[in-house]
This record gives sequence, structure tokens and C-alpha cells, in this order.
Amino acid sequence: MSIKNTIDLTKLPSHIAIIMDGNGRWAQEKGQDRLYGHFHGVESVRNIVEGAAELGLKYLTLYAFSTENWDRPEQEVTGLMELLVETIRKEVPTLQKNNIRLHVIGATHLLPAYAQTALQEALNMTASATGLNLVMALSYSSRWELVNAIKQIALGVKNNQIEPEEIDHNTLQHYLSTSDFPDPELMIRTSGEFRISNFLLYQLAYAELYFTDTRWPDFRKENLYEAILDFQRRERRFGKTSSQVKV
Ligand code: IPE
Ligand code: IPE
Ligand code: MG
Repeated sequence: MSIKNTIDLTKLPSHIAIIMDGNGRWAQEKGQDRLYGHFHGVESVRNIVEGAAELGLKYLTLYAFSTENWDRPEQEVTGLMELLVETIRKEVPTLQKNNIRLHVIGATHLLPAYAQTALQEALNMTASATGLNLVMALSYSSRWELVNAIKQIALGVKNNQIEPEEIDHNTLQHYLSTSDFPDPELMIRTSGEFRISNFLLYQLAYAELYFTDTRWPDFRKENLYEAILDFQRRERRFGKTSSQVKV
């Protein structure tokens, strides 16, 4: 039986979030420029999006570029932006064909104008899709997002639209860039790093974390299936005892 067939489709995580890491090292280990790794990373994105859609997953968030990544050498940042635009343009027909809706979270106003235009077009062209929701985290950081949310809540209080006593989890959730999506149930990070790197800090509160040494350009559907199977073997207790969650 193939590994895919051992997945319990009735117990899929509703939302998987992935920190796609290791492109640079993958390339450098081959004596190549870091951009070569990003280029090959796109192949993994294609493969994983296809795998997620085939399984019937509802939400997949991919961390593609962090706020902190703006501080990388200019040549790498420019290369990444060009790759982003080229990939989006090329992939929109496939997204449409597979009923995949694209979303973007992050400070996208910082992206170059040509990238913002390409993104907006892709968002519009996939807006009516009802299958997989593909969320790209671009120029994203969790601290940026939380500070933004708090600013908006503070403004609401100032304008008498929000009562401070009534602020709760739902209020904060409403002002996050992920307000339309459920929290990730499974978070995967590739490349052997064991950290969150400013990704969905609030939303990952009860996510199951899965780390693999596989570099992102080598990550394929089978690796995704393995992560899902690992997730399905875990007991999620949400603060309760094991016997409580078994009933
Ligand atoms: C992830 O790979 C892609 C981005 C952050 C844009 P890296 O570029 O971080 O690759 P490593 O971690 O340096 O190997
Ligand atoms: C996190 O990877 C961001 C993305 C994958 C887009 P980084 O490579 O930037 O993270 P650090 O610097 O190793 O923590
Ligand atoms: Mg990295």
C-alpha cells in the first residue's frame, strides 16, 4: 500500500502551514548560487500544492518571504522577487484549473510595484475558486501582524467602536491577516532548523510541529504525506488529560 493510502482522509489537518527553508544551503552544497536553490524550490511548491489539492486539504499556508528577509543581499532579494512574479504568472492557469484560491498575507505594500500588480491579478483571477485555499506569506512576520492588529484595536477603542472590557480572542483574531482562515493544525519546517522565525506566533498556539532535515528543494508529496501521518499518530490534548480526550 502506498504511503498516501495510509492517510486517514477523515482526519486531515484542516490547515497546514509550512516554513519552506533550506534553498540556499541546498544550492551551496551543490556549489551553486543561492538563487539556484530558490529556483528549484519553486518545483517543490508546485508539487506540494498539487499534493495538498489532491488530498482535499482546505488550507495550505506557505512562508515564502519574511519581513527579515528584506535584509538579505540585494541581488538575492531582487532574484526572489523576479522569481515570485514569474512563478505567479506561470501558475495561475494551473491554480484555476485545480479550483485553488490564492490568498496573500504580509506587508505586501513593501513589494516592488510589478510584483504587487502580478499578485493582485492572481488574487482576482482565482477569487471564485472553492477548493484549496493557498495562502502565501510574503513580506510577512508575526510581530508585524500583531502590532498592526493592536494598532487597529486601539483605534477602535479611541473611536468608541470597541469596548476595552469586551476585547477577547475573537477581537484579536478578527484583526489578524489570517482572520478568514482556521488556525494551522500542523506546522512543518524543512531543512533541520528548529525554530519558528516570526511565523504565525499566535495562530500556532496548538499546532502540532513537525521538523525534517530535508531541504525545501528536495521536499515532495511523499514527505508531506509522512508529516500528515505523523500528525495523525499524535494525541492532541489541548490542555486536558489523555483519558478526557479519549472519550
Ligand atoms: C528559504 O530558504 C527561502 C527563503 C527564506 C526565501 P533559505 O533561503 O532561507 O535557505 P537557507 O536556510 O539559507 O539554506
Ligand atoms: C524563514 O526562513 C522564512 C522563510 C522560509 C520565508 P529564514 O531562513 O529566513 O529563517 P532564519 O533566518 O533561519 O531563522
Ligand atoms: Mg533559511
